Amino acid sequence: MPQKKSRILAIETSCDETAAAVASYSDGSFAVLGSVVASQIKMHMATNGVVPEVAARAHLQKIKPVVRAALKKSGVSLQDIDMIAVTYGPGLSPSLLVGTEFAKGLALALRKPLLPVNHMLGHLYSALAAQPNLALPSMNLIVSGGHTYLVFLNGKNGTPGTYQVIGGTVDDAAGEAFDKVAKMLGLAYPGGPSVSKAALDGVHDYDFPRPMLHEKNHDFSFSGLKTAVLYKIANERLDIRKSQVRADIALSFENAVVDVLVQKTIRAAKEYGARSITLSGGVAANKKLRAVLGRAAKAIGLTLVVPDFALCTDNAIMIANAARIMLRQGSKPKDPVTVAIRPDLDL
Ligand code: KG4
Ligand code: ZN
Repeated sequence: MPQKKSRILAIETSCDETAAAVASYSDGSFAVLGSVVASQIKMHMATNGVVPEVAARAHLQKIKPVVRAALKKSGVSLQDIDMIAVTYGPGLSPSLLVGTEFAKGLALALRKPLLPVNHMLGHLYSALAAQPNLALPSMNLIVSGGHTYLVFLNGKNGTPGTYQVIGGTVDDAAGEAFDKVAKMLGLAYPGGPSVSKAALDGVHDYDFPRPMLHEKNHDFSFSGLKTAVLYKIANERLDIRKSQVRADIALSFENAVVDVLVQKTIRAAKEYGARSITLSGGVAANKKLRAVLGRAAKAIGLTLVVPDFALCTDNAIMIANAARIMLRQGSKPKDPVTVAIRPDLDL
């Protein structure tokens, strides 16, 4: 007998994208029926970064039309939704509040179950949305604007079990470092894409330090690298108004970050006996990181799974996907009234 499919509506507003998705799932399957992401990037370009209250106001304006558009695309009516999932942390408080309170209201009014989802779990499991038969256990590098994690995920092919956070950043996240170096160079927000675009024209590598590369742990540090960039510019009086100078610094910085991320991920994969490697989070959109990690994984006989660009940067498909995995593993929906945002939520 075919298994009954459940339909889930997922909402994501943790930072600067208002996102909603409708997906259907049964025990082992997951299908996206409709997904909409309203990006605030243009708005935050004016301030060269996200102002939390400005982001929240935009979420307030967009949340209803975005949810409505995702439902329309999916062809599923609100009444036919079986479950609502929402990102409740980590993220910016004013932004998280908009999505979480909206989802709570919807769940209460429609008498639907509500499942709060950890945004980072969304990133972690996004590789499983891209590759349902992911070879497990896997070593997973999650690199976003606010977090950097190395996570070992147990399980059998396509069916994740428990996970273990084996490393993280001791200071700045990888994406944060990209954003800060972009600001130093006067490049546009968001910094990651600007730095990697500038790096394409780089010819000289300043050979910046590779922080924590040789330490016998799985942690990262990017704050010192950022300071090394600052000192290089000041001490050598580099003229960052010149595009070639900007390109060379961008290239050198990107090479240093990619080098550390790749070498530490490969070392961890070998040490834990992983059967695959995954890369997720906004920085996973970085083409050099994807290419270098892909080659390094292949060299040790593992495949690298990286979700499409649209699944790497913030979206609600990954929240729906994480929700169905959590449900399968025994998580229970919560009474909407008891759900509260957790801006500092850890993995
Ligand atoms: O996962 P995400 O969309 O939001 C958070 O959960 O933080 O990640 C956003 C981060 C930003 O720091 C952005 O600069 C970075 O991802 N990013 C990139 C690239 N595209 C986005 N970093 C490096 N290279 C890129 N191409
Ligand atoms: Zn994210």
